[in-house]
Amino acid sequence: MTERIVVHGGRPLLGEVTVSGAKNSVLKLMAAALLAPGRSVVRNVPAILDVKIMSELLCRLGCEVTADGDTLRLDVPDRVGHEADYDLVRRLRASICVLGPLLARCGEAKVALPGGDNIGSRGLDLHVAGLQRMGAEIESEHGFLVARAPHGLRGTTVWLDFPSVGATENLLMAAVLAEGTTVIDNAAREPEIADLASMLQEMGAKVDGAGSSTIEIQGVGELQPVTHTTVPDRIVAGTFAIATVMTGGSVRILRCRPEHLEIVLDRLVSCGAEVEASDTVLQVTMDRRPAAVDVVTLPYPGFATDFLPMVIALNSVADGVAMVTENVFEGRFRFIQELVRLGADIRTDGHHAVVRGRPRLSGAPVEATDIRAGAALVLAGLVADCTTTVAEVHHIDRGYAGFVGQLRSLGAEVVREVVSDE
Ligand code: UD1
Repeated sequence: MTERIVVHGGRPLLGEVTVSGAKNSVLKLMAAALLAPGRSVVRNVPAILDVKIMSELLCRLGCEVTADGDTLRLDVPDRVGHEADYDLVRRLRASICVLGPLLARCGEAKVALPGGDNIGSRGLDLHVAGLQRMGAEIESEHGFLVARAPHGLRGTTVWLDFPSVGATENLLMAAVLAEGTTVIDNAAREPEIADLASMLQEMGAKVDGAGSSTIEIQGVGELQPVTHTTVPDRIVAGTFAIATVMTGGSVRILRCRPEHLEIVLDRLVSCGAEVEASDTVLQVTMDRRPAAVDVVTLPYPGFATDFLPMVIALNSVADGVAMVTENVFEGRFRFIQELVRLGADIRTDGHHAVVRGRPRLSGAPVEATDIRAGAALVLAGLVADCTTTVAEVHHIDRGYAGFVGQLRSLGAEVVREVVSDE
């Protein structure tokens, strides 16, 4: 049995919506718990599929994971396992983030080479090269990365060729228990990295500069378990902001951090939206057809690649022509063929897409190809005539908790339905 989302377009989104904790943070916070034996507690955990997969992975490593509402209790044993199997890792690329903590805690790690989003090759060379500089021996054997640091990891300076989020996190989690000082240069600056660093600091780690391009870590002998609250999900908040602009609605987005969305909000204002932000609340109002906006994706604080499918969907109903350029993942444009099925006028050339806006899209059956593409297709359905059905909704479930219910509460005509396999 599979499920699909059925959208009847034409209604503006109106009302209030609350944002949960960030997927891209919580998965790493769960991995960080491995660094200290005892009970760590993570709060503001979103009810998404990826958290379930990560919980299963931690259980296989010997942890006990208990969920209670939006709180996760992680009981980490004195001796954790060091092997992450393919059946879980292939479903969740982010599980590669156990590599650094396992290596730091056990002196060895065997992690299956991941699958994950269908958005490009997503290499691991930066993770591997950084850990090797810290003294790890790493081989690729039979579909696994096998890493050993029999004499422990040692501090060093690592320069990342690209500010990779995953590599920065793995190196950070490896360095907190390494001997001496590690400097990560050209580090990723995403808010989720700052969130991870603050949990590590609460655990007793010595980390300076997280959220900037240079992170300095002084290794310590051991860490303590802690209770930590996950930063709000900026991508989910931005998804609702973009949906509001596309549908000509008015939505208050609660429990978010507008400061993490500066460029996105700036672009929405260029589209004609009215945006008001306080520390934790964002009010977005749109009373006209959006104007087309050019976007170039870049690592934070640039325009996040995760929004690219949504901004293409927005431009496909905007007034004018937009150039959208993707610089982070080579495969992000794959979903465009689905949007074209809804009548969008889009030409791509390499990593550029030219989007010619149309007043409305035209409902059709489409298929989600990854989390953000799936969300973008639902948003496109909200501004399409008649009915759009989005198949492969498990992709959306990986990153959005109760997406359909939230959209319905804002007045959208959208349901989930079970499709019996024939
Ligand atoms: C994370 C986020 C994802 C977001 C992305 C960029 C999670 C679970 N996912 O993914 O939602 O879109 O950051 O903000 O947090 N690369 C290499 N070699 C490496 C590492 C990365 O070539 O060793 C390349 C990748 O192929 C990709 C680019 O660098 O083209 C960015 O990857 P990275 O920043 O590592 O993203 P993720 O951590 O995978």
